[in-house]
Amino acid sequence: MIEQTLSIIKPDAVERNLEDRIKNFFKEKDLKILKSKKVKISREEASEFYKVHQTKPFYNDLCNYLSSGPIVVMILEGENAVAKNRELMGATDPNNAEEGTLRKMYGLSIDKNSVHGSDSVLNGKIEIDFFFK
Ligand code: CMP
Repeated sequence: MIEQTLSIIKPDAVERNLEDRIKNFFKEKDLKILKSKKVKISREEASEFYKVHQTKPFYNDLCNYLSSGPIVVMILEGENAVAKNRELMGATDPNNAEEGTLRKMYGLSIDKNSVHGSDSVLNGKIEIDFFFK
């Protein structure tokens, strides 16, 4: 099924000029970039975006981090886009990510793991609306 998902290139990857390489990687794997923009969000916006994690011990650091510098937000579209994007990103912790995945190639740590992707079609809709509505 053709789906849409939200992808974020996080501050660590934007800072290292990895935007074009990551975008080309998605395109080569048949994920179309429907929309893309570079933004810097506030601490409040980051806490709203990540509110599903509000009870987690890493929530505070996570919100500080996502609002620490420019990010690139994208709508990706393609066959099984949600699962496909998660496969291309690899495990949350780059140390556990498979060879050839974005987080293995570019991730620095579990916090600075270079990319975010929606975990379901429903959350994809919510996350796309958050940035593009
Ligand atoms: P992301 O896919 O953006 O979703 C939430 C983020 O929290 C995750 O990537 C990680 O960067 C970050 N994080 C930090 N610590 C943890 C942890 N122990 N488990 C899961 N995610 C974590």
